[in-house]
Amino acid sequence: QVIALVGVPTDIGAGHRGASMGPEALRVAQLAEKLRRRGLEVVDRGNLHGPMNPWQPPQNGYRHLPEVVAWNTAVHAAIHHELQAGRLPVMLGGDHCLAIGSISAVARHCRESGRKLRVLWLDAHADFNTSQVTPSGNIHGMPVACLCGNGPRELVEIGEQVPATSPDVFRQIGIRSVDEGEKRLVREARVDIYDMRHIDEVGIKRTMEEALEGLDADTHLHVSFDVDFLDPSIAPGVGTTVRGGPTYREAQLCMEMIADTGRLGSLDIVELNPAYDKRNRTARLAVELVESLFGKSTLMRGPD
Ligand code: ARG
Ligand code: MN
Ligand code: MN
Ligand code: MN
Repeated sequence: QVIALVGVPTDIGAGHRGASMGPEALRVAQLAEKLRRRGLEVVDRGNLHGPMNPWQPPQNGYRHLPEVVAWNTAVHAAIHHELQAGRLPVMLGGDHCLAIGSISAVARHCRESGRKLRVLWLDAHADFNTSQVTPSGNIHGMPVACLCGNGPRELVEIGEQVPATSPDVFRQIGIRSVDEGEKRLVREARVDIYDMRHIDEVGIKRTMEEALEGLDADTHLHVSFDVDFLDPSIAPGVGTTVRGGPTYREAQLCMEMIADTGRLGSLDIVELNPAYDKRNRTARLAVELVESLFGKSTLMRGPD
């Protein structure tokens, strides 16, 4: 299967500038070349285009809503196009608000092809805020809620089914920062959250087994990888660091276990912010982890 890289150079939903440089940082870290070296076929579609970041305060609880709608509309079309052509899209963000466009496209593709959807949301944050409870107005803190129908009409209606998806498709892993009002929302929606306490108590292996349980041949697995999932000591190049995240080894095992399912159908790599990084090390780490996600392992595995 051909992998299609789609760059989305914007920080329109974030509270810090610089995630707009994420796609180029991943290219500089040789994402495409490293995957090709693994024998995979990779095409780079270049970057999508959209409005500049006007860097304005929130209005009615949202920052830059019209611009977020414009970017996500472009993302939805591009990702759906790749899926329909049978390719595996990798969205190079950009901030996490763009998951509204990518995951609504994946959900639409699943509907059209009669498949089930499972989303692994690797993140420090639940991203389940609404305009009522957001502490910031930043829409990168709201994509999961929007995808589940809880958000502004313009965003909830991206894609043709409203809502695009539902809380039961999500498994959130690595969570360690949930805002006060957001805690009530994720509880009411019964979002499956494997927070850092869960990982501390049962370990990353058991956590991933739980999150991947029930996948079958008809399941499309989407991974939404917010780079702030990782512990900031290994991944400083993000705007919203939260200490106490997965270590290098834990993150590697997480990616390897996803690869072992053989169900990966699409991927977001978001929130990488080169303005906060040191010599592109976070982009290089993200590329290493994505290599594992696409099957790189130390030894040959499986039966002879
Ligand atoms: N919960 C905070 C907010 O809503 C931070 C969200 C961070 N989200 C992210 N995708 N990095 O403002
Ligand atoms: Mn498909
Ligand atoms: Mn996020
Ligand atoms: Mn995050």
